[in-house]
Amino acid sequence: MNRTTDKLDRPLRDLRISVTDQCNFRCSYCMPKEIFGPDYAFLPKELVLSNEEIVFAARSFAALGVKKLRLTGGEPLLRPDLSELISSLMAETGIEDISLTTNASLLPRYATKLKEAGLKRINISLDSLDKERFALMSGGRSSPEAVIRGIDAAEAAGLPIKVNMVAKLGVNEQDILPMASYFRERKITLRFIEFMDVGETNAWKMDQVVPAKQILETIGRHYEFEALEPSYRGEVASRYRFKDTGSEFGIINSITNPFCGDCNRARLSAEGKLYTCLFATAGTDLKQHIRSGISQADFTQLVSKLWSIREDQYSEDRSKGRPLKSNKKVEMSYIGG
Ligand code: GTP
Ligand code: 5AD
Ligand code: SF4
Ligand code: SF4
Repeated sequence: MNRTTDKLDRPLRDLRISVTDQCNFRCSYCMPKEIFGPDYAFLPKELVLSNEEIVFAARSFAALGVKKLRLTGGEPLLRPDLSELISSLMAETGIEDISLTTNASLLPRYATKLKEAGLKRINISLDSLDKERFALMSGGRSSPEAVIRGIDAAEAAGLPIKVNMVAKLGVNEQDILPMASYFRERKITLRFIEFMDVGETNAWKMDQVVPAKQILETIGRHYEFEALEPSYRGEVASRYRFKDTGSEFGIINSITNPFCGDCNRARLSAEGKLYTCLFATAGTDLKQHIRSGISQADFTQLVSKLWSIREDQYSEDRSKGRPLKSNKKVEMSYIGG
């Protein structure tokens, strides 16, 4: 096997695939409704990679050492042939850890089908259990009850679940404790995410970030917990365990404690561009190669070469005050968190 490493000696282990740039939510930190309105030009269908094209790409990533695939969006469940994609990825790449990041609104309809297709795990976004603050975060779409119904459906289908909560100061920081208590009782791992400066449309400001330290202090005033080792190298979340219930929670602190040093993630956009960082300004168009009939071996070589010249470490650069490359970062809904 070709074990490609990048310029900072980081291997390629994880591929995040955005299967659509569309979403039925309008989270303020991701797709603010003022910008992603009725006239927003999403990708036309013919520019979006087909299942066969995604599988072709994923086979080469597997050959280069990728062990994890995560399907994201936008909202991946808006893609009608998602279960078929999962079955084909399972059958044709040899990668067993296939997971999904979703807002859960469509899970009551699809959870069992996804599990049967071979999906291993699921990460669900939920920012508040309070109706009004949920609406503020989701751009007025859906409700906490609907997301909980999605979580229940995933649990009933036997899918291991993690829940992601983005914390924004002045919007939902009062939800940290109720969310921690609720998921602690349900023994579901909740990860708090520091609001990140992804893309250019979410009006990010440092003073809206709830730092990991504050989250830990809030939880620590009510519960005893201990830090755990990462479950795998390069895990984005720091892990903690409640001492009494044994349930876990985590913090994704890319603002106050960047983790670029171990970053082994590549991202493939819905239209087939390869990005080597979540904060990238430009990607490489792989679709043109796939659609021109490149051989699998040549495609593998191409990806290997692109990874070998990678030197991204955006979060580290930001935290060390190094000059950032541009103000034209791609949007999270396009690149897939
Ligand atoms: P597992 O650990 O495999 O369960 O998944 P994950 O936490 O990597 O994936 P998920 O889609 O749940 O992402 C959680 C959060 O971590 C999102 O806000 C992502 O944008 C963020 N994240 C994932 N990878 C990176 C990364 O490479 N850099 C930064 N800065 N954030 C990341
Ligand atoms: N900062 C932090 N997390 C974000 N997500 C989307 N946009 C942002 C942002 N600006 C989260 C979503 C989802 C995951 C894929 O990324 O809530 O859980
Ligand atoms: Fe949609 Fe997820 Fe972005 Fe919210 S965070 S707008 S649910 S893609
Ligand atoms: Fe990886 Fe870029 Fe995130 Fe750093 S900022 S962890 S290099 S995706």
